[in-house]
Amino acid sequence: MRERWLNRPAFVFAAVGSAVGLGNLWRFPYVCYSNGGGAFLIPYFVALLTCGIPLMMLEIGLGQMMQSSAPFSWRGVGKRWEWVGWWPTWIALIIVGYYTVIMAWCWNYLYHSFSLGWGKDAQGFFYHDVLRVSEGPGDVGGLVWPLLAGLILSCIIMGLIIYRGPERISKVVLWTVPLPIILITILMVRGLTLPGAMDGLEFYLTPDFSALTRSQVWVQAYSQVFFSLSLAMGVMIVYASHKPRNSDVTGNAFIVSLADCGISFLCGLTIFSILGYMAHTTGAAVPDVVSSGIGLAFITIPTAIELLPTLSTLFGVVFFLALLTLAIDSAFSLIEVNTAAFMDKWGLTRRRATGMVSIIALAMGLLYSTNGGIYWLDIVDHFINNFGLAAAGLVEVLLIGWFFGTKRFKKFINPISDIKTGLWWDVMIKFVTPVVLGYSLIRYFIDEVEVAYGDYPLKFLLLGGWGMALLVLVAAIAVSKLKSHHHP
Ligand code: PHE
Repeated sequence: MRERWLNRPAFVFAAVGSAVGLGNLWRFPYVCYSNGGGAFLIPYFVALLTCGIPLMMLEIGLGQMMQSSAPFSWRGVGKRWEWVGWWPTWIALIIVGYYTVIMAWCWNYLYHSFSLGWGKDAQGFFYHDVLRVSEGPGDVGGLVWPLLAGLILSCIIMGLIIYRGPERISKVVLWTVPLPIILITILMVRGLTLPGAMDGLEFYLTPDFSALTRSQVWVQAYSQVFFSLSLAMGVMIVYASHKPRNSDVTGNAFIVSLADCGISFLCGLTIFSILGYMAHTTGAAVPDVVSSGIGLAFITIPTAIELLPTLSTLFGVVFFLALLTLAIDSAFSLIEVNTAAFMDKWGLTRRRATGMVSIIALAMGLLYSTNGGIYWLDIVDHFINNFGLAAAGLVEVLLIGWFFGTKRFKKFINPISDIKTGLWWDVMIKFVTPVVLGYSLIRYFIDEVEVAYGDYPLKFLLLGGWGMALLVLVAAIAVSKLKSHHHP
């Protein structure tokens, strides 16, 4: 008997939990701001409707139809295609390897926020006190103990959640989904009532319609939608495989996608009101204080927290708690992708598969917990996220669109769903999504070859970037050739 969610909403909660993560809080606001502000919402919605939601339907439908982990769902499409599922599975494993370390940073910051440990120099604190960073990726140095502690803590917590399967995930996401939303709303209310907040929002949302003529803006919109919805990573396939085979597909796809999008917008309001305040207090212009990614979460926002007139400690605790609760359900969804695949392939018990995956994640995390760890994290993240997602997504849509057949697929999802999909879905899956993803891939490739990423020496990019991206693909094909436990 396949393991099941405890109740109907559990799937939606778990899927939203995976989708809503660091991408909403530290990526969306910046991407939106730097690609036309309010006008960016247009390409963003177009990307959501032409690519995000159709692909979400595809993944949920496939998981439900096949009732298996990602590799065996694709094997169900055709015997030759098992590797198509292993590819995102290995990508997910690589990502968990560093996601847990980012969580370790959050644990450290949560601890330090009780005393506002970063003081006036948040940047120095981040690099020297927390990361104890070395000269470059060639100088790995030794393990940084507080990071290691956070890493172990994260891996243990995720192991404890995943080893009881969807049943326990159902209970956990009842907390880890609403909690960060509540926390972010609290931060937003505080942010909006600070002086200067409106200047921040003005920068965030003033529409620049000329941005819509730049192709880069559209590529950005599609990749943001992709990453934010946890697509092409096997997550939605596996999560849907724990639903009854005949439960709704399309309605769920809409709910999950729109919820994720709404929360991104909320995060933007929060972040930009705080940045507006920061600019107001320091006398800087808003564009000079905006940042994204780790810089935003661990340097800019801590700096702003330091400047708050009252209750700054509380604000800090709430912010880092929000980051942790955002990250955790995204991280364990990646672990579940691997656990489910291991169980199917080698007939392992859930307990054993979870143990193995958690230990692998921990082992990979060791590299990123060293003095040189952040450099490696940056390189691996850049390549895996750009190429991995777009490439894996492209193969998915091509297979369903041109090999399996969109008509056949719709015959399965339409009768069981409330909202019926029509011709638009076929057009998206067969033409629009492949063209967009293909174009983005070529674009990434050209950019990458023209300007080597970061200031890293080439050998490290070859190893951690290109090498890693290739290794993942080769490993996927290799594993698919091995004998499987109960699949003929
Ligand atoms: N969707 C997550 C976010 O927005 C990231 C993620 C991608 C998580 C893929 C799991 C799988 O942060």
